[in-house]
Amino acid sequence: MTLDRPEALNALSSEMLHELREVLQEVARREDLQVVILTGAGDRAFAAGADIQEMGKLGPLETERYATLGHEVARLLERMGKPVIAALNGYTLGGGTELALACDIRLASETAQIGQPEVKLGIPPGFGGSQRLTRLVGRGRASELIFLGEPIGAADAERMGLVNRVVAPERLLDEAKAWARQMQERGPLALKLAKAAIHQTQETGLSAGLDYEIKLFSLAFATDDREEGLRAFLEKRKPEFKGG
Ligand code: CAA
Repeated sequence: MTLDRPEALNALSSEMLHELREVLQEVARREDLQVVILTGAGDRAFAAGADIQEMGKLGPLETERYATLGHEVARLLERMGKPVIAALNGYTLGGGTELALACDIRLASETAQIGQPEVKLGIPPGFGGSQRLTRLVGRGRASELIFLGEPIGAADAERMGLVNRVVAPERLLDEAKAWARQMQERGPLALKLAKAAIHQTQETGLSAGLDYEIKLFSLAFATDDREEGLRAFLEKRKPEFKGG
């Protein structure tokens, strides 16, 4: 799928977001489509953000509708039962970064510039960046990117885990397709379940996650292996685990 408005660096107008939502709903339904690649038209941008011109005319209620639309598109990318690869082929800013963050995997061209520059416009991120960026790279790095508003290069993005891999611009789509083909060889149901399981970790709050850990930890105390492991330590010998 291609974000196709190169004359505005693929900035996400509400018209584009409506179209995108419709196409993603269709793609999610189609069983013959196993993996999605999302990229931007041209060689300058994945998407340079929400449409600044359009946003300049919106009041708070219209903004709520616009932001909700952006969130719906992001949710579709995040929740559809098939992998979504973002191929970042240039400027990936604001709402563009936020859509990329909703994808499962991000490949970036060496030329990509990635950031959340909203505060430079006097607004905070609005299509999910405060939540998804923080979960992906941690609070400190997310705060740095969001508070400074300065984009970073692909290599820095890879170092902080914001993108999975950096490739030469001319190799970007081929690389994304190679990843997609490899995934296509796996069982689609397994991919769907794996994606759902990974997604669940984002939905579980810290308290629920910690409670779950206590339960698993206690369950392990019903096994022979923990008996053997603790005793072996005290008897200063190697444990012999049986997996039960
Ligand atoms: N919205 C609308 N139009 C945009 C745009 C955007 N986000 N980004 C670029 N464009 C348009 C420009 O207005 C320009 O149009 P014209 O030719 O008609 O003047 C065209 O795309 C090319 O852009 P530039 O001339 O600015 O290109 P450049 O190479 O000089 O600069 C850039 C490139 C640094 C990416 C610059 O365009 C830029 O800073 N864009 C805005 C980036 C930004 O702030 N994004 C965040 C938006 S807010 C947001 O996304 C909120 C949210 O979280 C939902």
